[in-house]
Amino acid sequence: MAKPPRPDWSATTRAIRAGADAGRETVHTVGPPIQRASTVLLDKAADLYAPGKTSYGRPNALPTHTALIEAISELEGAAGTELYPCGLGSITGPMLALLKAGDEVVVVDCAYAPIRRFCDGFLKRYGVVTRYVPSRATVDEVMAAATPATRMIVLESPGSLTFEMQDVPAIAAAARARGILTLIDNTYGAGFLFKPLAHGVDVSCQALTKYVGGHSDVLMGSAAVATRELFDRLRACSRDLGSTVSPDDAYVMLRGLRTLPTRIKAHGEGGLKVADWLAQQPEVARVIHPGRADHPDHALFKRDFTGPNGLFSLVLKPVSEPGVLAFLDALELFGLGFSWGGFESLAIHCDPQVRRTAKPWSAEGPLIRLHVGLEDPDDLITDLRRGLDALAPHAA
Ligand SMILES: Cc1ncc(COP(=O)(O)O)c(C=O)c1O
Repeated sequence: MAKPPRPDWSATTRAIRAGADAGRETVHTVGPPIQRASTVLLDKAADLYAPGKTSYGRPNALPTHTALIEAISELEGAAGTELYPCGLGSITGPMLALLKAGDEVVVVDCAYAPIRRFCDGFLKRYGVVTRYVPSRATVDEVMAAATPATRMIVLESPGSLTFEMQDVPAIAAAARARGILTLIDNTYGAGFLFKPLAHGVDVSCQALTKYVGGHSDVLMGSAAVATRELFDRLRACSRDLGSTVSPDDAYVMLRGLRTLPTRIKAHGEGGLKVADWLAQQPEVARVIHPGRADHPDHALFKRDFTGPNGLFSLVLKPVSEPGVLAFLDALELFGLGFSWGGFESLAIHCDPQVRRTAKPWSAEGPLIRLHVGLEDPDDLITDLRRGLDALAPHAA
């Protein structure tokens, strides 16, 4: 505990130490107190090395961290949750924690591209082999790719560009029967629309950056795990790597989480309305939205998810690349930017980044991904009509 200033201290010391103890008594605010810390002061010398004491700012154990961790564990039905500096880290962190040289991983083809880069570069250098399976692989196809060295299966369902789904409960059960861990990128489900741990998955990761943050102004990731043993392994790896998140960011994330259920429902309703309209437009070859009956995995989606969020893609009828750029540039309400899950609508063309190695991606025309924000869907439809009109001079 900091000592109050003493009258015999010099002006310098008093200036440096005055007020150190003021404000220790916290009042009961709606959110947790934001405590910023590298140093944590212990009450007595015996506490300095005592196990179980929070003694430094690094291990995500300050009040805002703890509050966010509890909330996400509740949301995901987890035995524990680790926080990571971003969504990418929420997948690479657990992979580093749970894999070792000589292991193999099976990864679905539609996994977030930087995860593929991590597997093909970083993990490979450390002696971990990755095998890719098609994005819509059946349980038998996934398990056929697993060898005696396979320790983990990495899923993403629906994929975030092309929205293929896997039968997650069936794969998780088959993997568990062979002693293989399953990890899923649950950013689409946001811990709310889909509960992977209740379906037998071991590690449910999400980019909180998207729907939990909800305002496109903060990065963070979480890995919610099925057992305390897994949590301890994730924590130990974060400790060794020095992976930590800011307590201020944890506060902002928790604030976003409080309105997640209301926002994501509105995104989902708006997204479906816009998708249904797009599916009727003559310039559109097809819409790829798992919440629509014409999606090839709609039955899985209906079985496992409580509803859609605001993210989906569309395939345009054949048009030149300048046409695709003209479409995007004509949009006024849809911002041109990566990411999703914020209150605002976004659009990107995807062909430059869709990468598949197990089964090539092919479509009738260019692939566009939309994130439908919280604006009035009718205004978004007007905006998209303006974009589609700009295609006319470029049609193939
Ligand atoms: C499906 C998916 N997973 C993970 C991430 C990574 O999140 P972050 O940008 O917070 O690292 C993204 C980001 O776009 C994503 O779309």
